Amino acid sequence: MEAISVIGFAIALFIFFIFKLLITPSKPKKNQLPEPWRIPIIGHMHHLIGTIPHRGVTELARKYGPLMHLQLGEVSTIVVSSPRWAKEILTTHDITFADRPETLTGEIVGYHNTDIVFAPYGEYWRQLRKICTLELLNTKKVKSFQTLRNEECWSTVNEIKALGSGKPIDLSKCISKLIARIISRATFGKGIKEERVFTETVREAIELTGGFDDIADIFPSKKFLHHLSGKRAKLTKIQKKLDKVIDNIISNHSGSRSSSSRECLLDVLLRHKDEAELPLTSDNVKAVIFDMFAAGTDTSSVVIEWAISELIRCPRVMKELQAKLREAVKGKERIEEEDIQDLINYEVTPPLPLLMPRECREPCEINGYNIANKTKLLVNVFGINRDPEYWKDPESFIPERFENSPINIMGSEYEYLPFGGGRRMCPGASMGLANVELPLANLLYYFDWKLPNGTSHDELDMTELFGAVAQRKTKLVLVPMFQDIMDGSGLGSNKNPATWELPSRIDNWLICCYYFDWKLPNDSKGEDLDMVEVFGASVQRKNELHMVLEPYRFSQN
Ligand code: HEM
Ligand SMILES: *[C@@H]1O[C@H](CO)[C@@H](O)[C@H](O)[C@H]1NC(C)=O
Ligand SMILES: *[C@@H]1O[C@H](CO)[C@@H](O)[C@H](O)[C@H]1NC(C)=O
Ligand SMILES: *[C@@H]1O[C@H](CO)[C@@H](O)[C@H](O)[C@H]1NC(C)=O
Ligand SMILES: *[C@@H]1O[C@H](CO)[C@@H](O)[C@H](O)[C@H]1NC(C)=O
Repeated sequence: MEAISVIGFAIALFIFFIFKLLITPSKPKKNQLPEPWRIPIIGHMHHLIGTIPHRGVTELARKYGPLMHLQLGEVSTIVVSSPRWAKEILTTHDITFADRPETLTGEIVGYHNTDIVFAPYGEYWRQLRKICTLELLNTKKVKSFQTLRNEECWSTVNEIKALGSGKPIDLSKCISKLIARIISRATFGKGIKEERVFTETVREAIELTGGFDDIADIFPSKKFLHHLSGKRAKLTKIQKKLDKVIDNIISNHSGSRSSSSRECLLDVLLRHKDEAELPLTSDNVKAVIFDMFAAGTDTSSVVIEWAISELIRCPRVMKELQAKLREAVKGKERIEEEDIQDLINYEVTPPLPLLMPRECREPCEINGYNIANKTKLLVNVFGINRDPEYWKDPESFIPERFENSPINIMGSEYEYLPFGGGRRMCPGASMGLANVELPLANLLYYFDWKLPNGTSHDELDMTELFGAVAQRKTKLVLVPMFQDIMDGSGLGSNKNPATWELPSRIDNWLICCYYFDWKLPNDSKGEDLDMVEVFGASVQRKNELHMVLEPYRFSQN
């Protein structure tokens, strides 16, 4: 008996000491940010285990305040969760926090951090960013890609139509494909045949950049541990695959170096390769190309997916938006970007809920708290978007909240930062918005959508996936509804019909004959159509075939 109680006592004592060791009470020391209770070695990691990081962090911030410290393994981290502190840090301390923490992804896939996203703050990053804002992603360049955006949207609309009205489709896949094609054509001047492999591999790289889930993120200095997780090996494999594809494309690329307005992004970068000011190496060029895909594809497609998901869940807003769109585009065959300007004033679900981590370059003081050198910064825009002090009914989707409001998407008010803010703010914002708006407008203009299997709109699953980019956990499967056969009553009126140059591909012909009725312009009769061929190997029409489309009508139920 005694022995047992001694053992029992020993065990109790042991447990007591373990507890004493483990639970270092978080007495709020002077000059130290509030934080939850921590465990040695792993710090606060256990608070985040089993949560989706931005939700876990937001929950902690509710308890410990908008300026909170988290020790994530070795990494001392501050989390900012209110507009006020986001503003303070992204303005007053912006340059102090303009660095990025080291990541395996940046090191391996970002060609030793020589891309823009992962580049440390410094002259190289500044120069690259200048090229980016002045030449790659400025509004003029973005505008020059308008035609290709239009073409790709139109072919997606036709692909959906070809699948038929009333059949469920994987809209997630459809959207990803569309954005990947737009980015490929903008980057390389044409679609690439390895597109699927390429974008999937880029996505794998991003998925390995969660920033919370790996030994290498939590113990960056313990290099021997990094081999254990297999992440290094995985990223190296990914890098080899991407490098080969980009190499192939570059070596086959014949630049259109003559006119700068028609240059694709690769042309611009290759031009800088030969320039004196910032001579880029081949690896630098490849690193930036990687960024265009890594930062430019999933971000946009995720925004579209969430926007449609929210609209499905909120049929009133969906109806209003569709009515507005159909009114604005009335009488036109295809949507032009001018038609939809200021029309889509929806809430963007920030695809990067914690932005990209930053790091401070020197010790600093925020609100009297001492922040050590190399502290990591997470700007919790997910939490900021749900700050009840700034937002009425923050969990609800209310696009009207942006009407007549000074809050704009470019982060000038800090309540709403889908693109981040300060020096490291997304340089691709106008490109990203253009890539979101036109596809979204097309999908909503040409189709009505419902959930498959008679599922009610409020049953749509809205869970997000763990990762740097907050993707939908489940694929967005929806049923497009459209009127197959033209009923002659016309969207818009015949007074102002569109004149159309017909596409030449046979399957496009079939689609055209199926969906539309045709007549010649200016009330010419059929027999007036000239039938002159041109000399050549294939017998082509000499004059372009201009026809008038009798517009058709979409179901509006
Ligand atoms: C709707 C689409 C997009 C969203 C919501 C978005 C959002 C963001 C965010 C939140 C950041 C991090 C900002 C920070 O650390 O404070 C970022 C960085 C970046 N984005 Fe975007 N982005 C989008 C589209 C694009 C596109 C289309 C491109 C280029 C093709 C692009 C290129 C970049 C680059 C290069 C960076 C790194 C900037 C730096 O570290 O200096 N983004 N983006
Ligand atoms: C590059 O061009 C060659 C010849 O035009 C072609 O055979 C090859 O498939 C192309 N490679 C890629 C990756 O497009
Ligand atoms: C902060 O850390 C950086 C990077 O290690 C170092 O270059 C810099 O000198 C440090 N600053 C101070 C004030 O210690
Ligand atoms: C719809 O129901 C069918 C049969 O019950 C099922 O096979 C299919 O997976 C369901 N589709 C979706 C998208 O839930
Ligand atoms: C139709 O008539 C107008 C005015 O007469 C003319 O400008 C236009 O080129 C004609 N369209 C075609 C396709 O012949």
